[in-house]
Amino acid sequence: MFERLETVIPDPILGLMAAFRADTDPRKVDLGVGVYRDERGETPVLRAVREAEGAVLAQQTTKSYVAASGNAAFNEAIERLVLGDQHEARLTARVRTVQAPGGCGALRLGAELIRAASPDAVVHVSTPTWANHVPLLSGCGLRLERYPYFDPATGGVQFGDMMAGLERLPARSVVLLHASCHNPTGADLSQDEWRELLALVQGRGLVPFIDMAYQGLGEGLEADAFGVRLFCAELPEVLCAVSCSKNFGLYRERTGALHIVNETTKAADAAFSQLVRLARGIWSMPPDHGAAIVHRVLTEAALRAAWSEEVDAMRGRIQGLRHEVVRLLREHCPQRDFSFIAAQRGMFSYLGITSAQVQALRARHHVYMTDDSRMNVAGLRRENLEYFARAIAQVLAG
Ligand code: LMR
Repeated sequence: MFERLETVIPDPILGLMAAFRADTDPRKVDLGVGVYRDERGETPVLRAVREAEGAVLAQQTTKSYVAASGNAAFNEAIERLVLGDQHEARLTARVRTVQAPGGCGALRLGAELIRAASPDAVVHVSTPTWANHVPLLSGCGLRLERYPYFDPATGGVQFGDMMAGLERLPARSVVLLHASCHNPTGADLSQDEWRELLALVQGRGLVPFIDMAYQGLGEGLEADAFGVRLFCAELPEVLCAVSCSKNFGLYRERTGALHIVNETTKAADAAFSQLVRLARGIWSMPPDHGAAIVHRVLTEAALRAAWSEEVDAMRGRIQGLRHEVVRLLREHCPQRDFSFIAAQRGMFSYLGITSAQVQALRARHHVYMTDDSRMNVAGLRRENLEYFARAIAQVLAG
């Protein structure tokens, strides 16, 4: 049965992870996979997470199943984190939450629900978008199209073109949006742009599917939820996939959730029942460990305060690096303007160099980023910033 299967090339991010691991040069710099790194280049277990994990393990009395919809206490806590305690959709019982294995699980579950509700629905994703959005959303048979998003000339959002592209879509088209820290470009919508987009989405009857993988790492835990909260309050239907990988550092624990907002409680209950059925048919029950930790962190005041400080520190480090790298690039490559890096948010920036230059960076300087020149800013360290800026200058010089 399987003898004719062909070997496929790995996803660009996974391929890069393997190449970086295999490189033995001590100067190597990993700006590939989107994981937060500290000043020592490590991806630490957050202190609040470690403490919560200890308590979870000490108090857990069984490993029996939880539920196909996941840990209800986690679902409520994450809903409150994303939407805020007093959000209209929560107060009117229009929102339902299902736990999923990571943000990826939530994205796939949302795609499956869209497919079940409307098999011909088209999902529109930004140009560019995270490479894994494509298989996650289209793998269940949905068609994907692109809308304009990133402006390489400014390093910001091509908002006019984006709006013009979305203005042409038929009603019930699904639009995938990034809540904050756009992956891969770091170019986010301003609050005014979210408001303008809301009017368009309302007017055209589009269905937003928001990917929220970086709450807290852009402008802050509250500010990064602005678009999600606005859309969930004002629109009859919204899907939102949430990941706890980055802001809780729980990557391998696969912790995430899918929120769905509906127009009525009845419709919300029906959607929830469908989501449970779909989840049961894919992974049956989501893993509980990460969800139990997140629940504890979010509901114990001292842990929550400590965690929130750790998120602020991660964001602060990334922003500091952004400014530092702009300064050094200005010094080493005065002919080119990289100031957009400081204006962008989250882990990623598109450097805007050619894929041949990216290859040269890898081959000659052991600096790893994806071929489209997406770099994980958090992979830089004060001690290798100068090395990085010089390497960029050398590849730009040819
Ligand atoms: C990334 O974009 O590098 C991260 O979200 C990790 C991944 O799974 O691709």
